[in-house]
Amino acid sequence: MEYALCSGGKRVRPALCLLAAEACGGAREDALPAALACEMVHAYSLIHDDLPCMDDDVLRRGRPTTHVQFGEATAVLAGDALQALAFQTLAAQKDAEVVAKQVAFMAAAIGPAGMVGGQQTDMESEGCHPALEEVLAIHSAKTGALITASLMLGAVAAHRNPQPWQDYGQAIGRLFQMSDDILDATASTAELGKTAGKDEAAEKATIVGVLGLAAAQELVASEVERALAAVQSLAAGPFTSVLSDLPRFLGARRS
Ligand code: IPE
Ligand code: IPE
Ligand code: MG
Ligand code: MG
Ligand code: MG
Repeated sequence: MEYALCSGGKRVRPALCLLAAEACGGAREDALPAALACEMVHAYSLIHDDLPCMDDDVLRRGRPTTHVQFGEATAVLAGDALQALAFQTLAAQKDAEVVAKQVAFMAAAIGPAGMVGGQQTDMESEGCHPALEEVLAIHSAKTGALITASLMLGAVAAHRNPQPWQDYGQAIGRLFQMSDDILDATASTAELGKTAGKDEAAEKATIVGVLGLAAAQELVASEVERALAAVQSLAAGPFTSVLSDLPRFLGARRS
């Protein structure tokens, strides 16, 4: 039951998938294909996010970004391949009902109403100074949808109703992107393993841009409370503690 959600080198999305499965009374092993699929989709989203036509970043996880290392065409295709592999991994499972549900939730989460739609709005909002509600909607779509899906796919792997995980997933997703926005403005490139200060330079739609740093940090603190309330409504027994650790960590993280 150990989850290294809060350590360096975190892999939050697969960990959430396995955690939700176990918290639902399922076996961690049954959620492994879904956990892998979530990380593959996440990696694809980062490869494309870093492309020159998107955020144009040269550093990721402390190393040159995929297009810097292997060229732009290979980076586009690597992202495409990871997305296909994610669905192939889900589809290869034996239980047809689990496959159908997980494929449907994943597709909905990362398509135009989810991650890709959020990325599009993120790009369109550069330099436009959107209101807080719009920034939060971008956060929910580009980041919250996949994080929520990670939990929901885990619940499906355990043959349980995934809907109760929505509120917690959305709160964690918002917290994740809010803290990412804050870190872009406060942490160093060495700490982040990606180029710091890029959001302000590109006039990105971030909570720091719309609220300033102090108010953004207050908003994070209130979102931690919302996430903790969502944990209580999950009635997750012995998993309540680890589910509560994550929002507390995200509210306090420095890298
Ligand atoms: C990226 O948001 C969200 C997705 C990849 C869907 P950011 O653009 O803020 O992520 P970083 O800061 O480059 O990691
Ligand atoms: C970065 O995600 C992109 C966002 C959604 C903010 P992570 O901070 O989880 O990136 P890795 O997987 O740890 O590199
Ligand atoms: Mg981006
Ligand atoms: Mg980026
Ligand atoms: Mg960012």
